Amino acid sequence: PAAVIVAIDGPAGTGKSSTSKAVAAKLGLGYLDTGAQYRAITWWMLSNGIDVQDATAVADAAAKPHIVSGTDPAAPTISVDGLDAAGPIRTQEVTAAVSAVSAVPEVRARITELQRTIAAEAPHGIVVEGRDIGITVLPDADLKVFLTASPEARAARRAGELKGKDATDLAATREALIKRDAADSSRKTSPLAKADDAVEVDTTELTLEQVIECVVTLIEGAS
Ligand code: C5P
Repeated sequence: PAAVIVAIDGPAGTGKSSTSKAVAAKLGLGYLDTGAQYRAITWWMLSNGIDVQDATAVADAAAKPHIVSGTDPAAPTISVDGLDAAGPIRTQEVTAAVSAVSAVPEVRARITELQRTIAAEAPHGIVVEGRDIGITVLPDADLKVFLTASPEARAARRAGELKGKDATDLAATREALIKRDAADSSRKTSPLAKADDAVEVDTTELTLEQVIECVVTLIEGAS
């Protein structure tokens, strides 16, 4: 059978990563976390003393880091210039800076090209998760899913992923998440948005298992 290409978009905390990984593993597809790529380039900028608020400086450096993504859903990897970036890209410092870096058109052009190459080379197809996959990166995807959830549910899920969680963490997480979504949705180049032909799934009242089941059913119907 032909390789199936699945695009999963949505804001932070909707369960995109958990869902995409599980669906890819179930169906024997590759998995690409495009947010990890934007985080990786952001980590490189911060590590190399580039002012991430200076769009010109970020644009000038955009081609420098060598980013490699491993697409096995059971053990996805990300490296920058040969260094394992999986840990450092999850720091609050990177999370706070990533929206500014990912808004720079030169960064998006570079990462988008990388994503298209990875998708085209996936032997059995791939699940690609992000913000602009259905509209910009893979407009011809076999299936497009747009995951949503209430801000409360998204903040609770994100805070649950952090260690030593308490009420303060939850409030701060909610605030940071809303700020990041607003930045991602309002930028000029490829903002976070639902494609007209994407299937919207509101995950607020669903368990992860139910969301996985729903997406698997959609893929089986599309391919
Ligand atoms: O998915 P995750 O929360 O790790 O994404 C981190 C950031 O990367 C997002 O807030 C957004 O700024 C950027 N991103 C993007 N386009 C994508 C995926 C992520 O701009 N396709």
